[in-house]
Amino acid sequence: MYEHSLQAAEWIKRHCPKRPEIAVVLGSGLGALVNDMTEIQVIPYREIPHFPVSTVEGHNGNLVFGRLGDKEVMVMQGRFHYYEGYSMKELAVPIRTMKLLGIKTLLLSNAAGGLNPDYRIGDIMVLQDHINLFPENPLRGKNDDRIGPRFPDMTEVYSKRLRNLADQVAEEYHIKLQRGVFVGWQGPSFETPAEYRMLRSLGADAVSMSTVPEAIIARHAGLEVFGISVITNVAQAGEENSHKEVQDAAGMAQPRMTLLFKELISKL
Ligand code: HPA
Repeated sequence: MYEHSLQAAEWIKRHCPKRPEIAVVLGSGLGALVNDMTEIQVIPYREIPHFPVSTVEGHNGNLVFGRLGDKEVMVMQGRFHYYEGYSMKELAVPIRTMKLLGIKTLLLSNAAGGLNPDYRIGDIMVLQDHINLFPENPLRGKNDDRIGPRFPDMTEVYSKRLRNLADQVAEEYHIKLQRGVFVGWQGPSFETPAEYRMLRSLGADAVSMSTVPEAIIARHAGLEVFGISVITNVAQAGEENSHKEVQDAAGMAQPRMTLLFKELISKL
């Protein structure tokens, strides 16, 4: 599988002269960050060898290279989820490809359900830590020592340095931030009320169907990781969940999220 990432990276190098050190993964309804980018080069996933293709509405399928503020970045506009049927090994390909392209810092975003009763729709939560409730660890199987160690440390998945920088940005720009523990849920069905209560009692503040596999794969490869959740629905309301509601609420938070990412990136 590492060969797949090597071939994908070689192909991208041949087709794009840009060499950013920062990558961003955009979650459901959060794709508009690319509108703030300049000098862009768009590469559809389907053109890249071995890249999966995203199947979910609201998820575009492009790698976008360009400048955000004063830095070169590479953006995954649309991501891949375990519930789409991809294996964890397939989910690893884009992140390992980033590493091979010279990426050092990875900013992850997602639309998530709020479990903490203090959270409101539209809040932005900075991930302090996570709980992996996916049925599989993405590093299961023979370890490839060229990528990272067999037993990677996970005491600081979400970089303290980047969290501190995000705090500075939030203070400067008066962006309200929540800080909490994220739990990864395989989906695609939303949680039942009993499952929401269970996840809360496990110590989680927000839940969504992505991010955890990418964060583990990235830390294994030695990338510095930052993550945010946009709270698009709250478990306590006892209301039905829908993908449309998730996308609408993500759209509401999008300008704040873009500002946060842009200013955080400028401090790197
Ligand atoms: N649960 C799981 N994933 C989600 C949710 C949720 O409530 N909201 C957005 N993604």
